[in-house]
Amino acid sequence: MAEEIRPIRRIGILTSGGDAPGMNAAIRAVTRMSIANGIEVLGIMHGFAGLISNDFRTLSARDVDGLLMKGGTMLYTARCQEMHDPEFRQRAADNCHFLGIDGLICCGGDGTFRGARELSRLGVPCICITGTIDNDISCTDYTIGFDTACNTAISAIDRLRDTMQSHARCSVVEVMGRHAGHLALAVGTSVGAASILVPEDAGNFETDVIEKIRMGRINGRNHHIIIVAEGYHMSCQEVTDRIIAETGVDTRITILGHVQRGGSPSSYDRVMATRMGCAAVEALIDGKSQRIIVLRDNQIMDIDIEEGLNCEKSLDLELLENCRKMSI
Ligand code: F6P
Repeated sequence: MAEEIRPIRRIGILTSGGDAPGMNAAIRAVTRMSIANGIEVLGIMHGFAGLISNDFRTLSARDVDGLLMKGGTMLYTARCQEMHDPEFRQRAADNCHFLGIDGLICCGGDGTFRGARELSRLGVPCICITGTIDNDISCTDYTIGFDTACNTAISAIDRLRDTMQSHARCSVVEVMGRHAGHLALAVGTSVGAASILVPEDAGNFETDVIEKIRMGRINGRNHHIIIVAEGYHMSCQEVTDRIIAETGVDTRITILGHVQRGGSPSSYDRVMATRMGCAAVEALIDGKSQRIIVLRDNQIMDIDIEEGLNCEKSLDLELLENCRKMSI
């Protein structure tokens, strides 16, 4: 006999880890899709910390009006160290049961998935949505926020280029991405950077940076944009010092920092957040637990959290190599 699916009457939603543009759009999608299916929604404040401290609010369809286009997350977010402690995890699960939460949707990155996996094991059905500007989650082609962050960085660098060109300078720009170079590669490709420095490929500084600048000058290029991923093995200062010492070119540093995490989500992020948010609610209704909603070959699907945490995501090294070749 087929196992009976427990009806979902109330769900919780939380955002966790670094915020990303589009998280609000996901909250809206989850709220509206749930209510459309007769399910109540509780917004858990400050990520898993709100589950531990019972900090929540009910969400109505009207509460999420005008949210689609807002950056950040209306539920606040946090990196909750207490979730590493079994005692606090149990408290979070007990609170879910006490609040009548039949399923929990967690939007964030790897750390969020681990928290959700533990709560699933404690009997709280959890579905994750991938949200981080880093796009470094191995099991999915896309994480909510990446496209907006790329566009934000690109428009800042386009402005930088104007002034670098006017002064015939070199610009060393640090972009986020934690330990991964996906953001740096996408941004570097989009702005036609002279060099893109990422943690996944140490490259050869002499040929990839110094020679590019020297040859560029000989070939009539008077300015250069060097993109450095924050996880690259040299800091922006070290990169800059070497450029000045070896080429004598006037060089300035720009660290884009948290600017990249803010702003109204792009159309792509709004659509992805909506697709993933709706899929998360449907997964709970279908009786699923311990799953991550992912994008693969433009198809939305769900996979087991454990499987998701064990995948490996590689950088598009072919694109990186082609960018190097085109930097002439
Ligand atoms: O994971 C998103 C991210 O913005 C990374 O790119 C960056 O390394 C990190 O978060 C910064 O974290 P925080 O906001 O805690 O400084």
